[in-house]
Amino acid sequence: METIGILGIGKLGICFALNLERVGYKVIGVDINEAYVAEVNNKTLFSHEPLVMEYLAKSVHFTATTHIEEVLNSPAKLIFIVVATPSAPNGGYNHYQIERIVAQLEQAGRQPFERHLVIMCTTMPGYADTVAKRLEPFNYTVSYNPEFIAQGSIMHNQVQPDQVLIGEANEEVGKKIARLYQTMCQNQPVYCHMTRLSAEICKLATNCFLTTKISFANAIGDLATQAGAEPNKILAAIGADSRIGGQYLRHGFGFGGPCFPRDNRALGKFAHEQNYPLLIGKATDEVNQQHLNFQLNQYLQNFPPDEPLVFEQVSYKKGSVLIEESQQLALAVALARAGRQVIIADVPAVQQQVKVMYGNLFEYTQ
Ligand SMILES: NC(=O)c1ccc[n+]([C@@H]2O[C@H](COP(=O)([O-])OP(=O)(O)OC[C@H]3O[C@@H](n4cnc5c(N)ncnc54)[C@H](O)[C@@H]3O)[C@@H](O)[C@H]2O)c1
Repeated sequence: METIGILGIGKLGICFALNLERVGYKVIGVDINEAYVAEVNNKTLFSHEPLVMEYLAKSVHFTATTHIEEVLNSPAKLIFIVVATPSAPNGGYNHYQIERIVAQLEQAGRQPFERHLVIMCTTMPGYADTVAKRLEPFNYTVSYNPEFIAQGSIMHNQVQPDQVLIGEANEEVGKKIARLYQTMCQNQPVYCHMTRLSAEICKLATNCFLTTKISFANAIGDLATQAGAEPNKILAAIGADSRIGGQYLRHGFGFGGPCFPRDNRALGKFAHEQNYPLLIGKATDEVNQQHLNFQLNQYLQNFPPDEPLVFEQVSYKKGSVLIEESQQLALAVALARAGRQVIIADVPAVQQQVKVMYGNLFEYTQ
């Protein structure tokens, strides 16, 4: 049974660990959060993510630990890094959690056999190359393999990807990573092998394309609304063109959540550093704001001032409890600040977060 190490078993890492365990790998997950590690090992972890609790309960060869040495003392050749990379104020990504792991690996000294680190976190293009350079003397190769998943369907998305993006240290390691996915995936994804730098750019660019498509749909929808035409019929017809496709092409809320807006900004920052200003990404962001303003005016015009406005969902997407950069919440806030009575009727887990941020700005109901 092959052993896989996973450093960071938060929202994404634990799903990857459980999906690998299910298909026959022995997985050692490392996390610095002691209480969380205990919950994982006691199988008492509560998760909003579908299938996590179910698969954890059934798992036999997945153990969690706070000690990275358990991975380094194991025969694991493939070690994934899945820690958080929060946004930096300048629009880039903060790699400090990866840096701490790299420092630990350096301290642990040269490995007796070659190990293959695989960074799964979202990083600034070029970062994985710097890690590779630092860890080469310690007998590590470094590859970059981000995943295209959505919160609320992470377990499913991991085993049914359209593409597996492998920014490989070398061809042999690329094949090893591909084999892992061939074992784990329930479909036949396209394997995209490239350099680390290309894969880092590709990860951000994919999300940038999706946000651009969303902004385009909203802009055309707003224009159609303004002109008295039929936004949804227009967009459905555009989406029926097989060169375009109907996914992400609806007239609805702007893009939000923990990935899309920040990947778009990060790509813009990288482009700026490369002296190639990415006008599309900038326009996409601006249209997202323009659309929010348009929606606000629509609500103010179409609903009488004394009519309470009930928001059943203010998380960034249906079924999620995350409110990060939620456009639904942004609209609710703008309406309340414009003097409207706004009632939040989302699930308790969302209401709690909204109360902490906005308190009495809203009324709340179940
Ligand atoms: N969650 C998503 O939907 C999603 C989607 C695409 C990409 N990503 C990317 O994947 C990465 C991980 O995201 P996430 O949502 O799982 O983050 P998360 O915050 O849920 O999990 C990160 C985990 O790493 C642990 N950790 C921090 N420092 C550590 C260390 N030194 N050693 C071991 N563990 C450590 C934390 O305790 C936490 O449990 C990020 O780069 C994110 O941008 C996430």
